[in-house]
Amino acid sequence: MKLKIEAIATLTPGIRKFTLAPVDGSPLPHAGAGSHVVLEIPGPSRIWKNAYSITSAADAPAYEIMVRRVEKSRGGSAWLHDHAKLGDVLEVYPPQNLFAPQRLAKRHLLLSAGIGITPFLSYVRLAGLAYEFHHCCKPEDEAAFRALLPSGPQMTLHTSRHTLNLEALLKSQPLGTHLSVCGPESFMDMVLATAAHAGWPAAKVHKESFGGATGGEPFVAHMKRSGVTVTVGREESLLDAMEAAGLAPPCLCRGGACGECKLTVLEGVPDHHDHYLSEIEHAANDAVMTCVSRAKTPELVLDF
Ligand code: FES
Repeated sequence: MKLKIEAIATLTPGIRKFTLAPVDGSPLPHAGAGSHVVLEIPGPSRIWKNAYSITSAADAPAYEIMVRRVEKSRGGSAWLHDHAKLGDVLEVYPPQNLFAPQRLAKRHLLLSAGIGITPFLSYVRLAGLAYEFHHCCKPEDEAAFRALLPSGPQMTLHTSRHTLNLEALLKSQPLGTHLSVCGPESFMDMVLATAAHAGWPAAKVHKESFGGATGGEPFVAHMKRSGVTVTVGREESLLDAMEAAGLAPPCLCRGGACGECKLTVLEGVPDHHDHYLSEIEHAANDAVMTCVSRAKTPELVLDF
């Protein structure tokens, strides 16, 4: 779809909101709570594909997304912050929903940090959804986030992760509650480990991450079946490098949560950054999630 940037709002120094409307005014595909879109973002030397949660209502005439300026940007967020202007037209893939509210849940415990708030902005708009929502943010961002959220006893903003008594919260939830979490890698790790420790069954824990790859040392990946070798640069993901080489590896969330981009590792040791594989699977080192994970060895050989 070709969508043009219809509005840009600066919510905090590091977060901008974009409104994307169809160029020809035609209706957009339905985007239920939890949906995301992937944008093609032009860079100086290549096109970046980044995924963003849709924060607007399901059948709104335009999609709204929020973009955090990534410190060590892989290119996409920096372009959206520094170069994007009203009227620019972007290629946008139709919405996918990997993080819809669980239908069987009697109640939802929603936990997010920073830009991880975005999928839940569509959740809290759903009529009749029973939820308790805790969001962690920097003190200087509190006012901006408060303006986005409903008020009421079900909503708590924390300006320090330390005021979120995670263990007590997770241990005190009524039966039938499902936990959904979204945020930076360290926040997700903390919540998921605490939930596992508190005895939450995996079937009641749901996660979304759009943090994307964090960058790191360059490495080389050989694709055994296609015979293609790529060098993964310091600020790109393995998935980015494969796409830049003309390959079409599978992917959906581009954030290490959905499992779609999993490839078998034939040689080398991956450096795992995903929230999809279990600890045991990470230790086996025979699979890698290309969207966020890297390599501990100078080279990987992958079954692709
Ligand atoms: S694309 Fe979803 S985990 Fe990589």
